[in-house]
Amino acid sequence: MPGNIVYDRRTVVLHWLTALLVVTLWGLAQVIDFFPNALRVYPRSTHILLGVALAVIYMTRVVWRATGGRRLPPADGGLRGLAAKAAHYGLYALVLAVLVLGISYEAVRADNILNVFRLPSVAPGDKGLRNLLGDWHGTAANAVLILAGLHAAAALFHQFVLKDNLLHRMTRG
Ligand code: HEM
Ligand code: HEM
Repeated sequence: MPGNIVYDRRTVVLHWLTALLVVTLWGLAQVIDFFPNALRVYPRSTHILLGVALAVIYMTRVVWRATGGRRLPPADGGLRGLAAKAAHYGLYALVLAVLVLGISYEAVRADNILNVFRLPSVAPGDKGLRNLLGDWHGTAANAVLILAGLHAAAALFHQFVLKDNLLHRMTRG
């Protein structure tokens, strides 16, 4: 049964930290505009700071998966196995894209962070570039949420319909 062999503890911790931060960052971005103008700096700064924290965690995860992390055989053969592999690589690539686009967006915005300091802008006044990066960042973030939702649904299908204990791979490390 696929659930009998499990990922190592560091892989498991890094997986759930990534998932938690991705969902929190996406949710936080949706509510920034509900704050009164004078207070938006706080949720926006939290989004930026958590985004940078995720970038560090993400680099750690990629290095660990590429070097010491345990590799497991696919849970399914055939087309379903290929789809799972594509989803995993797709998630790695899309989360990376969101992070790079978010940091690039930030590099042109010159945001005030928590009313403590203001970040410099590499392209002050370039509204076109700012809007383009903002659109791409938001679109890539939505794509991550959709793919992660399908990925989670597949994991739950294994766990509760196929009853093969797949979730144990990512919870028992
Ligand atoms: C944004 C959220 C998520 C991302 C980016 C993500 C990403 C990944 C990636 C890249 C892998 C491949 C293993 C690795 O290299 O670490 C993986 C495996 C796995 N994930 Fe997620 N995941 C997310 C959320 C979830 C959720 C919500 C669940 C459960 C409901 C889940 C359950 C699993 C399981 C069971 C595996 C092992 C699958 C296998 O070995 O075939 N993941 N995840
Ligand atoms: C996986 C991680 C991330 C997710 C899921 C995410 C998600 C989002 C979403 C959905 C938006 C709204 C876009 C729109 O209005 O169309 C947004 C806005 C934004 N993001 Fe991210 N983001 C992430 C990481 C980052 C990072 C690393 C940074 C910079 C260091 C960043 C900086 C920003 C900024 C400055 C905004 C604009 C906020 C505002 O409208 O006031 N994000 N993000």
